[in-house]
Amino acid sequence: MSLPKVELHLHLEGAAPPAFIRGLAKEKHVDIGGIFDEAGNYRYRDFWDFLKVYEAATSVLTSPEDFARLTRAVLAESAASGVIYSECFLSPDFCGGRDVGAWREYLHAIREAAAEAERRDGITLRGIVTPIRHFGPEKARETALCAAETAGDWLVGFGLGGDEKIGKPKDFLWSFDCAREAGLRLTCHAGEWGGPESVRDAIHDLGVERIGHGVRAIEDLALVDEIAEQGIVLEVCPGSNVTLGIYPNWRAHPIETLMERGVKVTVSTDDPPFFHTTMAKEYDRLAEAFGWDDSTFRDIAQTSARATFCTEETRGKILKKLEKADA
Ligand code: ADE
Ligand code: ZN
Repeated sequence: MSLPKVELHLHLEGAAPPAFIRGLAKEKHVDIGGIFDEAGNYRYRDFWDFLKVYEAATSVLTSPEDFARLTRAVLAESAASGVIYSECFLSPDFCGGRDVGAWREYLHAIREAAAEAERRDGITLRGIVTPIRHFGPEKARETALCAAETAGDWLVGFGLGGDEKIGKPKDFLWSFDCAREAGLRLTCHAGEWGGPESVRDAIHDLGVERIGHGVRAIEDLALVDEIAEQGIVLEVCPGSNVTLGIYPNWRAHPIETLMERGVKVTVSTDDPPFFHTTMAKEYDRLAEAFGWDDSTFRDIAQTSARATFCTEETRGKILKKLEKADA
């Protein structure tokens, strides 16, 4: 809990507590169907059902103010886990239907809420625009234009989430080029439900610096060596992978092997309430499964801080905070 943490892979809507979504649905008198179990948690059968439940939950977030409230709730939880800096995925698809004017209003509200959380809890947030792969390349272009229009010190990256089994990374090349030209840094979900070839395509065809998940690269050791040599950073979300059934248990997760082979590994929660996790729980479970001590987690936090997409100045401040905590 007390170790300072840096999180690089967090979907803002995916971090919405179920009670928060239930409350909004009630306020708006909308029925979002049976997406909760008896205990009030999100209920889904598998990854594809998870994506459906995710979109149903997100459908009650309909205004900039809803996203401001969500941002406050999510950052309070992250700060309680010891997170000092977080990069979150934002999708203009869910924030005004990819209309640039509406997107600016959503972004403004999220940034205001983040600034408030920074003043209160000392946690810093930055944004990464993320089109949804299964919505298709055309919608991703509109999303990239929203991202390009708002790129800067706060909106710092561009990624791709959603169903990895649909299409190829190069279908999204126009969007990634557009984002790159706007100065955004690049990441892409790959090697979660797709195998090593999906990771290789994202690196070779899109030129990304980070990979969301990327863990299934382990099935091709030549690729692991390439990732290590190129210094590509993996945004590893072990709790997400174990809960969704990619690995049967924590011990079977390849995070330690990847690290031992020289890959830059970071730790994140992905969609914490969906996977019954927090950053503090990820650390606890990793310590339990692999016997890692504080020095391993300090190294991971350092690697994560160096891999942030924020300005040099902000990165310097995070690294200083980590150093101070180490001393
Ligand atoms: N969107 C939210 N969580 C995701 C995940 N784990 N993989 C792909 N897309 C996502
Ligand atoms: Zn993700």
